[in-house]
Amino acid sequence: MVSAESIRAGFGGRFGGEPSVVVRAPGRVNLIGEHTDYCGLPVLPIAIDRATFIAAAPTADGILRATSAAFPAQAEIARSAPRHQSEPWHQYLSGALHELAAVAPGRGANLFIDGDLPAGGGLSSSSALTVGVISALAAAWGSPLEPVEAARLATTAERHAGAETGGMDQQAIALGRAGNALRIEFLPPAVRYVPLPEGLAFVVAYSGQDAPKGGSVRDAYNERVVGTRIAALMLADMLGVELEGTPLLGNVAGIDAASVMVVELPDQMAPRNAANAVEANVERVIQFATSHFDSARKVPVKRYAQHVLSEAERVDAAEVALAAGDLKTFGRLLNESHDSLRNDCRCSTPALDKVAAAMRKSGAFGARLTGAGFGGYAVAACPPAKVQAVVEAAVAATGGPAFEVTASDGLSFA
Ligand code: GLA
Repeated sequence: MVSAESIRAGFGGRFGGEPSVVVRAPGRVNLIGEHTDYCGLPVLPIAIDRATFIAAAPTADGILRATSAAFPAQAEIARSAPRHQSEPWHQYLSGALHELAAVAPGRGANLFIDGDLPAGGGLSSSSALTVGVISALAAAWGSPLEPVEAARLATTAERHAGAETGGMDQQAIALGRAGNALRIEFLPPAVRYVPLPEGLAFVVAYSGQDAPKGGSVRDAYNERVVGTRIAALMLADMLGVELEGTPLLGNVAGIDAASVMVVELPDQMAPRNAANAVEANVERVIQFATSHFDSARKVPVKRYAQHVLSEAERVDAAEVALAAGDLKTFGRLLNESHDSLRNDCRCSTPALDKVAAAMRKSGAFGARLTGAGFGGYAVAACPPAKVQAVVEAAVAATGGPAFEVTASDGLSFA
């Protein structure tokens, strides 16, 4: 088992000496509110009791050297030229360095990374790495950050890996609280803790397929970001609302007529055509931090918007259900979320459908894919007495791993 002691020993074995800083960055499981954060609409995740640990010590030579117990290839990245890494996990390190360019310029660091948070999509291992590395480096260089600031920098840093993600993962990791979910809002930014009632346990189960959002999933993910931006642009036009900057469904979701008008949206449309139709600059729709999106590529618009607007309502209903201790309703909302992700957002897979169905059948209140989808993990909410049965059903469905997770504290220094 990985602990602050084992990571210190690992650091000593690799680099010699003691680290000056050890950070624990937990994974996260999103309970509900999927593919809503990048639309500026709320999410309801927990930080979990599985984490990535990062041990760091400063050096004088301006080079970041990092070894991971889980990933191949030691990183050696010059602070003066942090871009263009070929190894996927190194991209997160270079994104972190880019965001910390103004902190102790010229100094370097040695990092040793280990943990018990599985990679592969769904539990936010990449965000745990990025939030943890940013916090560890800033502290090692004498400028420790508030967790919320580490989350903000990590969100931008991760966009350098190409997926235009929304900011849920980094905040859940930075700000999680034992025994609570977090309701995170984006327009304007706010976090509210939602106590989890008695009699509620969570199981997560691997679908058997990796879904790295910095890799194969990036393009599919970005297509959904663009599809929802087109929907926001066109809905705003239909409703006679002026939107500034990037069009987000969160800007129109509060208007009653929006949920009625959504059926008027086109099934498919290219960003260029949408921008022409409403006389807007297409850059507002396709502008990303680093990756490029083809303005002539047709993307589904109506279904993505239907998923997002209905999912935002389910987040509100789920929070109410948790406050009332109504776990049956909470479970039903998770199932409805999964159906909407499968049918409208189209980010489920046969393996995710199968494992979610198996967990429901074995006594869960409800189950759904968690995270971006396309593989990765599913989550089930279940009575504590059913945890074992749900784990076994999940392993029988896809081969596992499947295990219980508990809502835990966020980022900490060990
Ligand atoms: C990934 C992203 C998040 C969020 C989810 C989908 O995990 O990193 O920002 O968009 O997908 O809800």
